[in-house]
Amino acid sequence: MTQRRAGILGLGICLPEKVLTNFDLEKIVDTTDEWIRTRTGIKERRIAEKGTKTSDLAAKASLEAIESAKLKPSDIDLIIVATISGDMIFPATACVVQNKIGARCPAFDLSAACSGFPYALTVADGLIRSGAHQHILVIGAEVISSFINWKDRSTCVLFGDGAGAAVVGAVADGHGIMATYWGSDGAQANLLYIPAGGSAIPSSVSSVDSGLHYLQMDGSEIFKSAVRTMTDAIFEVMKRANLKLEEIDCLIPHQANLRILNAVSERTGIPSDKMFINLDRYGNMSAASTVVALYGAVKEGKIKKNSNVVIVAFGGGLTWAACAIRW
Ligand code: ACO
Repeated sequence: MTQRRAGILGLGICLPEKVLTNFDLEKIVDTTDEWIRTRTGIKERRIAEKGTKTSDLAAKASLEAIESAKLKPSDIDLIIVATISGDMIFPATACVVQNKIGARCPAFDLSAACSGFPYALTVADGLIRSGAHQHILVIGAEVISSFINWKDRSTCVLFGDGAGAAVVGAVADGHGIMATYWGSDGAQANLLYIPAGGSAIPSSVSSVDSGLHYLQMDGSEIFKSAVRTMTDAIFEVMKRANLKLEEIDCLIPHQANLRILNAVSERTGIPSDKMFINLDRYGNMSAASTVVALYGAVKEGKIKKNSNVVIVAFGGGLTWAACAIRW
């Protein structure tokens, strides 16, 4: 008997309408379009209007994904929201999304920063293959702009808001998720984090005065870890999926920095034209990044039936993950 395999049945995205260009940022902090473009590859990003919640973007992306899977919200039997900018500390944003889309099922959040989508896909893969669930909604969603210090030029130029959703279910033989790989290294947790607002440093006047409720990052250390962990994760998932380099049709990497992606392309030997890139338009959308890129690659015809796709990401934690999928 062949083993039941999980695959992506439908995809959806939601991007805020407001575009913040590098030229707009020049008016806010001491930076230039030239610096941002040459150091990161980013030209513009989307920023949610004040009052927009992560669950708002997540719910819209979800409804599109459910419709494209030709299902109804009542068919969804689990919701996982990968996010580091949920609506509240608790309850889970996934519960809020469940109510907004009119589903009735278990729902929880998953915190793996920018690796959130392939992490959540890995969880969904196991639950579909085991037969425990039939249709899992896997969402990557962020209003990360709420946690950015708009006076800190070293971080505020990098990020953008957005959401993407995938319906994961059983697929026909020979298709679907072939292999997954994930990891973390808590010893490097403070390379990329939001120090205050949790039990370590509860929110207080002093925590806010010190800016500890904002995202903090050691950019150059993150850069090195990103290149190493994404390269290793690609090779490991290829091995597990029994995929050769030349058999990869499309690489969907986490969209943090074009220089990171060029270094990954050089080290793995995956040509840059097989790598889907949208960071010039959207910046780093953390957990939403890879799912929005996946959606773009499908819409632009870069992923077709039988394409071999590798999703790879790294993020705060540190975390990293990769999934190999036969479309
Ligand atoms: N505009 C102009 N100058 C700037 C800016 C800016 N926006 N930001 C920093 N600089 C300055 C610095 O102050 C520094 O000046 P100094 O030499 O006078 O001190 C100079 O530019 C060089 O700074 P570096 O940090 O060496 O620049 P680098 O080439 O490393 O690029 C960057 C910085 C873009 C942040 C890079 O390190 C990077 O992309 N790192 C990875 C970040 C990342 O991917 N983060 C997301 C992780 S995913 C997640 O989980 C959320």
